[in-house]
Amino acid sequence: MLKGKRILLGVGGGIAVYRAVELMRLFIKQGAEVQVVMTKSATEFVTPLTFEALSGNKVHTDLFDLTEQHGMGHIQLVRWADAVVLAPVTSNLLAKITHGIADDLLTTLMLANEKPVLLAPAMNVSMWLADATQRNVNMLKERACAVVEPATGELACGEQGSGRLAEPARIVQNLLPLLTKQVLKGQHWVINAGPTVEAWDAVRTMSNRASGGLGAMLADAAAIQGASVCLVAGKGTPKTRQDVERVDVESAAEMMHACVDAAQGVDVFVGTAAVSDFRFAKPLQHKLKRQGNGNIQVELIENPDIVAAVATMKQRPLQVIAFAAESENHVGYAQDKLQRKGVDAIVANDVSNMGNNLASGWWVSKQNQEVIKRMPKAKFAKCLIQFIHGLQDER
Ligand SMILES: Cc1cc2nc3c(=O)[nH]c(=O)nc-3n(C[C@H](O)[C@H](O)[C@H](O)COP(=O)(O)O)c2cc1C
Repeated sequence: MLKGKRILLGVGGGIAVYRAVELMRLFIKQGAEVQVVMTKSATEFVTPLTFEALSGNKVHTDLFDLTEQHGMGHIQLVRWADAVVLAPVTSNLLAKITHGIADDLLTTLMLANEKPVLLAPAMNVSMWLADATQRNVNMLKERACAVVEPATGELACGEQGSGRLAEPARIVQNLLPLLTKQVLKGQHWVINAGPTVEAWDAVRTMSNRASGGLGAMLADAAAIQGASVCLVAGKGTPKTRQDVERVDVESAAEMMHACVDAAQGVDVFVGTAAVSDFRFAKPLQHKLKRQGNGNIQVELIENPDIVAAVATMKQRPLQVIAFAAESENHVGYAQDKLQRKGVDAIVANDVSNMGNNLASGWWVSKQNQEVIKRMPKAKFAKCLIQFIHGLQDER
């Protein structure tokens, strides 16, 4: 996810320095190149050698280091970086950065920096909640610094409360939007995903093999590109980023209500969910016992069509995109659905994509028809966002 990105990791002198090592390794694992700057206090907790050995780059600690190019290391470092991440940020660093104090390498480069900044504070709960710290954090947020709030739990000092360094994966989640063009900023998207589950009796259900993976990836990708996203998630749909609002549902009827509620007047609705076409006509409250008399008959009735309902509601989303999983004549059926359901585009894909890590398909809109070649689902999701964005330009 961070392939080719250059991250300047600033490490402050708190007990969580050892976790910055873990964070740096995650950045590298995800394809980033990392340069580390440590404060003098940070080197009291973990030696620069640890970061140096694991990053393969020299660790910078000294403002007056004559080996740095023309003695202007702080300027070179911020010019080199795509983003600056400070983790852990001490209360002292927060105060210094807020007030423009530049008395060591890290604080000096922060003053010279014009690249996106992500701060991950970690400290004792009283230090975190202190009026001075909270004011500093708010001022930094106003200056467009992104802040990953510390997690709550047991702290190194033995107290309980907020102040733990956020999980490295969460820090990466928060970093991605800073490194991605915010082309969807200001837009509201609603996406449904996953299977629906229809109850037959107190324990038995009817469902399908959809994983919800693609819808969840689409929700993440749209949020990273700046959209505010609501995911209506069928059972088993994977977790998404924390900034994606999630409404969990089971049956097609529940999914229908949640989608119609959430999609009023939004910019984009994408129906990726595998909604059951049928439900049991008379679901039973109790568990049905064996009858001992051979076969039993079960009556099914048709579920309403969620995408068609969203596409025809009064405050219809500006764009409605439907998915169609077919086993044959993919484009033909997609064109037919496009007319019949009143949607703006169809993503036709093969039923073999269900539960698979790869996806391929066809993008079919009124103006455009394109093959989307086989690729990992995360990439497929990003590709669909480009198509949907292109559709907005066509209007
Ligand atoms: C054992 C120990 C642990 C500390 N842990 C933290 C911490 O987690 N967060 C924090 O803000 N300060 C912590 N401090 C205080 C900072 O080290 C101190 O404020 C220092 O001046 C920070 O320097 P820096 O901001 O330049 O890295 C700790 C100090 C000690 C002695």
